[in-house]
Amino acid sequence: MFKIITKRQLNDQVVLMEVEAPFIAKKAQAGQFIIFRVDEKGERIPLTIADYDREKGTVTIIFQTIGASTQRLSLLNEGDYILDFVGPLGVATHFDKDIKKVAVIGGGVGCAIAYPQAKMLYNKSIEVDLIAGFRNKEIVILEKEMKNVSTNLFITTDDGSYGAKGFVTEVLKKQIDSGVKYDTVVAIGPIPMMKFVCDVTKPHNIKTLVSLNPIMIDGTGMCGGCRVTVNGETKYACVDGPDFDGHQVDFDELMIRNASYHSNEKAHICRLTGGVNNG
Ligand SMILES: Cc1cc2nc3c(=O)[nH]c(=O)nc-3n(C[C@H](O)[C@H](O)[C@H](O)COP(=O)(O)OP(=O)(O)OC[C@H]3O[C@@H](n4cnc5c(N)ncnc54)[C@H](O)[C@@H]3O)c2cc1C
Ligand code: FES
Repeated sequence: MFKIITKRQLNDQVVLMEVEAPFIAKKAQAGQFIIFRVDEKGERIPLTIADYDREKGTVTIIFQTIGASTQRLSLLNEGDYILDFVGPLGVATHFDKDIKKVAVIGGGVGCAIAYPQAKMLYNKSIEVDLIAGFRNKEIVILEKEMKNVSTNLFITTDDGSYGAKGFVTEVLKKQIDSGVKYDTVVAIGPIPMMKFVCDVTKPHNIKTLVSLNPIMIDGTGMCGGCRVTVNGETKYACVDGPDFDGHQVDFDELMIRNASYHSNEKAHICRLTGGVNNG
């Protein structure tokens, strides 16, 4: 059982939880994830390790309440326990040794995953341009935290209600066109966003890492659920990733596979009990 130490609502749909998990905190690195199960009937759900504190023995997760399992998790409070919390899983993000300037791009809740990447790079004295995109001002998260781990922070909103109006790709393109030289670009967010970032960087031959979010079940390379095609080969995101070279990823296939269970995933919240059920 894993105790929730802190719970913070970052916006209407996004929750931060600091969870007591000393063995995971001891080994966690940027880019890795955990799989949790709220209770015995719960699904196994992957979430990225947004932060960790080795001394306190805690791991921070930031998640969007999107369907039944994340809603169930969001109903827990400080002092409550999560049944299973397994990790760290996946391969830590690997950057080339001699990089000097990186653009880290987060889309929506993807900023929660972009943040630890930016923090790790910034702490190694690498210049970080962090480009964070949101649909509107109401859902902007982690602004202060992202500012603290970036050389320049650019915020965009689709409707222009905060920061620059438009998409993250427009800022990236402007930066590149104005002569800024990035050794690597990291993109984390909705699949179309990562695909479009790759379309911007490919003609300039800028190495681009993306963090893939296929459906995962066991998280250990056994079930095949998270298979993705990278450079024409089948890879398992849970053990070979979740980070891959974006220029080699078959995003269209990933989008189709991720939509496979949409009709089964509709969550029902009981108005009498507040309980969450699928179907
Ligand atoms: C490696 C990895 C890291 C992730 N990190 C984060 C994170 O830090 N924060 C965050 O908000 N989300 C993260 N996600 C996505 C998160 O796992 C899904 O939002 C969550 O599984 C939704 O489950 P649900 O039951 O609440 O919603 P559902 O309604 O069941 O599903 C909504 C959507 O979530 C995805 N999903 C559902 N079940 C799974 C599953 N077992 N594995 C993967 N995706 C699934 C599907 O795209 C689905 O359409 C990550 C996914 C992966 C693979
Ligand atoms: S989740 Fe089963 S192989 Fe990756």
